[in-house]
Amino acid sequence: MSSAGVSTLSPVSRETFDYERKYDAGKEDARREYEAIEQIMSRKALDRGLLLEPVIVNPKVELSSEVWDMIDTTYDGLDNGNSPIRSSEGTGGAYFMLDSTGQKYVSVFKPIDEEPMAMNNPRGLPLSLDGEGLKKGTRVGQGAFREVAAYILDHPMGGRRSLFGDDKGFAGVPPTVMAKCLHEGFNHPEGLTAKFGSLQMFMENNGSCEDMGPGAFPVKEVHKITVLDMRLANADRHAGNILIGREKENDQAVLIPIDHGYCLPTSFEDCTFEWLYWPQARQPYSPEVIDYIKSLDAEEDIALLKFHGWDLPLECARTLRISTMLLKKGVEKGMTPFAIGSLMCRESLNKESVIEGIVKAALDSVLPCTSEATFMDAVSEIMDQHLDEITGNYNS
Ligand SMILES: Nc1ncnc2c1ncn2[C@@H]1O[C@H](COP(=O)(O)OP(=O)(O)OP(=O)(O)O)[C@@H](O)[C@H]1O
Ligand SMILES: [Mg+2]
Repeated sequence: MSSAGVSTLSPVSRETFDYERKYDAGKEDARREYEAIEQIMSRKALDRGLLLEPVIVNPKVELSSEVWDMIDTTYDGLDNGNSPIRSSEGTGGAYFMLDSTGQKYVSVFKPIDEEPMAMNNPRGLPLSLDGEGLKKGTRVGQGAFREVAAYILDHPMGGRRSLFGDDKGFAGVPPTVMAKCLHEGFNHPEGLTAKFGSLQMFMENNGSCEDMGPGAFPVKEVHKITVLDMRLANADRHAGNILIGREKENDQAVLIPIDHGYCLPTSFEDCTFEWLYWPQARQPYSPEVIDYIKSLDAEEDIALLKFHGWDLPLECARTLRISTMLLKKGVEKGMTPFAIGSLMCRESLNKESVIEGIVKAALDSVLPCTSEATFMDAVSEIMDQHLDEITGNYNS
């Protein structure tokens, strides 16, 4: 629990939220009152072997009613004796959480200590020796942060996700929140403890893109996933991580991106995009999508994550800056998702991608302790040269 800044998180539930606010305002009596209530609640929870509450780092963040409903309904399910059901798919511990009737899935909880290569991984994957996660440039125990970050950064079409709003994001990442949950149904080889993890809304689906060829997927649906994956330099976009839902009105396929535990890595080495070879990726973006991409701002995104409690490590912030820059420059030049995405992925295991080459060249061109802004200027210049060569548009 020591890595990833988890120890700095302060859990609050809806009942204690107001106390936290007062505490934040520096009122000593309220702080003591809050701590006393926390202790009573924790004791009660331990006695009952049951706890579920969101983890909120910044009391200014207000969860949407949709997220509270998910938490409350999940709690009611546990309280009614419906144990979490471990998914048979995936490499980590992912648990389907039921409602009070036990008939309906409400959410999916992924504890950080059950991630692949983490201590309590239920699938017997070996422990990470140096803390590196299953994908290059990620750390074991940080999957939940990345899951939540993908939701926070999935801004709705017409604006930015400043607080937890009910608006559906552009790519449709299901609402996701950091949570603390105590239940015997999780993997507890060394005794019952409360677990931190991501709690994501369960989305009704008819399987994943693993079960079906891409022919039936609307272009717009594929394009929204391409934008999300490129922005976040997703290192785990395989077909199983895109669920297929249905639009209620017209029964059209809706693609639902899940499993973002390996986005925003510190390097581009493991970027893989399932959609790269789908025909829709070779079609140009629509004007609406281009406008959306133009509205993206990596600095604002980094600030937003910080506001929500995740101070991105420099290298992850850099990844977001570079991928956002590439996406924006790419669409300015009229490039397709395929053309941009190809620059981010390795053609073969041992051949660096174009973006890796750009980063390396930029690092070589600046002094070791240069500022991030100067480094990004170097990236921008080298990226322009590459894109000009590719698009045959020599400006000099
Ligand atoms: N929000 C969701 N709604 C519905 N089903 C979900 C959701 N999230 C996960 N699942 C189901 O649970 C399975 C495992 O979840 P997930 O892919 O997030 O876990 P993982 O262990 O990280 O997987 P991977 O091996 O791809 O890294 C998924 O394949 C999917 O079937
Ligand atoms: Mg998965």
